[in-house]
Formats: sequence, structure tokens, C-alpha cells
Amino acid sequence: MRVLIADDEPGLLRVLSRCLSNWGYEAVVAKDGLEAWRILSDVDPPRVVILDWDMPGLNGVKVCRMLRESEGGDQSYVMLLTARQAHTDLVEALEAGADDFISKPFELRELQLRIAKGVSTRERRNTDRVPPLSQGSGALPAGFTLGGKFRLEKKIAEGGMATVWQALHLSLGINVAVKFMKPEFTKNADYTSFEREARAAAQLRDPHTVRVYDHGLTHDGSPYLVMEFLAGDALWDRVERDGPLTPEATILLVSQVASALDEAHTRGIIHRDVKPENIVLTDDPSGTGAFQAKLVDFGLAHPNWQESAGVSVAGTPMYMTPEHLCGEQPPSPALDIWGLAVTAYMAMTGVRAYAGTSISEIVKAVCAPPPVPSQVQPRIPKGVDAWFARACANEPADRFPTALALAAGFVDAWRDDSMRPERHRNVKAVGTMAPTEPDSSRPAGAAAPSPEKRQQRSPRVLR
Ligand SMILES: Nc1ncnc2c1ncn2[C@@H]1O[C@H](COP(=O)(O)OP(=O)(O)OP(=O)(O)O)[C@@H](O)[C@H]1O
Ligand SMILES: [Mg+2]
Repeated sequence: MRVLIADDEPGLLRVLSRCLSNWGYEAVVAKDGLEAWRILSDVDPPRVVILDWDMPGLNGVKVCRMLRESEGGDQSYVMLLTARQAHTDLVEALEAGADDFISKPFELRELQLRIAKGVSTRERRNTDRVPPLSQGSGALPAGFTLGGKFRLEKKIAEGGMATVWQALHLSLGINVAVKFMKPEFTKNADYTSFEREARAAAQLRDPHTVRVYDHGLTHDGSPYLVMEFLAGDALWDRVERDGPLTPEATILLVSQVASALDEAHTRGIIHRDVKPENIVLTDDPSGTGAFQAKLVDFGLAHPNWQESAGVSVAGTPMYMTPEHLCGEQPPSPALDIWGLAVTAYMAMTGVRAYAGTSISEIVKAVCAPPPVPSQVQPRIPKGVDAWFARACANEPADRFPTALALAAGFVDAWRDDSMRPERHRNVKAVGTMAPTEPDSSRPAGAAAPSPEKRQQRSPRVLR
């Protein structure tokens, strides 16, 4: 087995190449990143690769990223050699597609064991590429190691199309989330949605967009996606369990998701499925009780909305604009901005703005004048009613033009209300409405409902 070792320290390079030969490998040496990349661009390059992180010209992370983007580059096992140890560096290595990370100074024995693991992983990775069997990823058990890299720990959630597992990245020792397509969808094999999700999310850097690290096929040919693990609840589940969010928490939610959407829209990407099920509220590491909202599920994302004329109607009808629902307009950022407003309505009232048991009922509701939030939750000020009426105006030209304008309008709508502090008397700073202070004016469904009254998560029925 040939192993490429790239390091700009000539002494270390000599020692490591001698060790590789002693351990039974054929050492291929590169004195910097450019030379490593030239070797890796050959027709039959070494498939186990050790790259020093800091090299002049082209550093190890860049070489790793270029390798992963090249044809067949996903078959290699890549280890980064570095003096860095920070968690952010680990994440950067992971995002670049590295399989392992070893810090200098290291024991040669440790390096030898890790290379041996890399070789066996690389061999196993080849056997992962077998054609689909009949069972699908639904049959994968906890403890299963995916692609030689990720050990499945427990199933954490289920959406309409996919199941999401918590998993351990074995060599980096960090938690990741792995999303599998449900077996019923793998039969018709729309794998492109996973690839689209990986490609769209991988371009985005906003802290309120989930980071996607990797995607691939299981041994039985089902697609999977590896993401940042978010410890927390989907907004939908949080509101169903604890009741509506406080004004402050709703403002935080809208501002954070608007920031994620603004970056996506600026890059020409539209999400097309903004809804409470696709926003995860993670626990805030600062310990202030605030949360970090993260936009997930880019499975319907469109990578270049300016060129989306003729693209089919797709999304969750209860969160779609009238013109998109009726197929009168090609997808555009307006869909996401509307989806965020309808999501905010649910977050602050506890009930959906638009509902119905059939598509025609939903279309009717969406095309009617927008509902009035304060009629559900009387604490909501009139300014917020006006904001929602503008956000969900029937005529597109009457609405907020951008996600950031929508969020700024929302903050202003509540700020006007701050002149009347008695409105917030019973409200915790950030989070959900205090459960010990029942709101007698809250209609059935607006507080945390009993299990039998629970609303169903909204299925995505249009694809
Ligand atoms: N990175 C993550 N970390 C933790 N939980 C997550 C993560 N991504 C998604 N989830 C949870 O999994 C659920 C389903 O994920 P996702 O929305 O991506 O699946 P889906 O099946 O495509 O959704 P849909 O029902 O919209 O078709 C989410 O509602 C959320 O609760
Ligand atoms: Mg979803």
C-alpha cells in the first residue's frame, strides 16, 4: 500500500518516510502542498494520505479540500498532521473532509496504529460501494459504524423524508448528526435531494445555518448526510411542549433565522422549506438561557434562484406564498421570507397561521386575508399584527423586500410596544411563556397543549 506523506520539515519528512518503509508501506514523499497536490492529481494516486497542516504555498487543509472535490477523491483516507489543538481547528479539518487529525509532537507508535486504521478504513470504504439491497437505512442499528468513520449512537428525530441520528466521529471524538433517507423514498431514489442539501449548506457560513460535513452512501446504497450535531429541540417541538415563545425569544429567533436566510439569498440560494420543524433551538453555551437558532434541512434548496424559471412547485403548503402555492411564480427568496413570518406567528401564538386538511383548504386559507396574531394571543401588540399583515400581504409588492427588512420590522413592531411595560409582566426574559403564570386569555391550543390536542408536524407534501 502506497502512503503519501507531505511535510515541509525535511528532517521530519525523512524520519517519517523511513518509518513508513519499516512498517511495510511504500512511502511517497512530497516536500510541500503543491507537490502533494501534483501527486494526488495523478491517475492512480496513493489512497492513504498524511498532510502537514501548515505548509507554504498550499496548506494541508486546502490540499484535503481539493482532493475531496476531485473525482474519486472521496475514496482516500486523509490524516492531518498539526501542532494545532483547538476545537475550531478540529472542525475546520472535519469540514475540509479529513478523516483523522494527529497533533505534534506525537508518538511514532500512535502514528503507526492510526495509519493501520486508515488502511483498513480505506479498504472497507471500497466495500461500501456495493449496489442497493432491499432493506434501506431504516434497518441500521445503534452501534453500526458508517463508512468506517461514524458510529451511530441513537435516533434523535424523524422528519417526513428522513431519520436523524446522533453519531460519534470515531477518530475526532466529536458528536455529529447523520441524516438518512427513509427506505420508502430510497426506492424511488431521489438521491439528488441529499446531494443538493450537502452542496447548498456547505457553501453557507452563517452561525445560524447548520454546518454540513460530508455525504455518502451506506453499504446498501442509501444516501446519508453528516452534519454538525445540534443539542436542542426543533422549534416546533419546543412550542408544542412549552407553549409560545416570549416576545424576546421570538425576536431572537426571527433575527437569527433572517441572518441565515440573508446569507443564503445573497449567494443565490433559497431554502424553500422554512418552517418550525426545520429550525433547531440549541442550548446557548453562554448559559444566559438564550438559544441559538439553526436553520436545517436544505433538502429542497435551490442553488441559483435567479435561474429557477420552470422549476417545479415544492415545499410545505402551510408555509408557502399564494403565488408559489398556485405555481404562478418560480421559486424566489419571497418564499423563505414568507415562511419565516408564518414561523414567527406559530412561535408567538402556539398555533399555525394557515391550516387545512387538504391542499385546496390550505390554498383557500393562504389566499384569504392574513390572520391577526393578537386575536390568538392578546398580549401581542397591534404593531405586530400590522407587521404580520404586511409580511403575509396577498400582493407580493406590499411585503417586506428582504429577510433582514422583515426582521428589522419585527423588532420595531415590538419596540413600539415597549412603551407599555405592563404587557410583558408575566414573561420570562428569553424562552417560553412562564408556565406558572397561566394566561386566562390564551385560547385553547395557544399554550402547551395536552397530547391529544397536539398539532401534527407539517408534512412536506409538494416536491
Ligand atoms: N443537525 C441536527 N442535529 C440535531 N437534530 C437535527 C439536525 N438536523 C435535523 N434535526 C432534527 O431532525 C428533524 C428532521 O430533520 P430534517 O428536517 O432535515 O428531515 P426531513 O425529513 O427532510 O424533514 P421534512 O419533514 O421537512 O421532510 C428536524 O426537525 C430536527 O428536529
Ligand atoms: Mg425537515
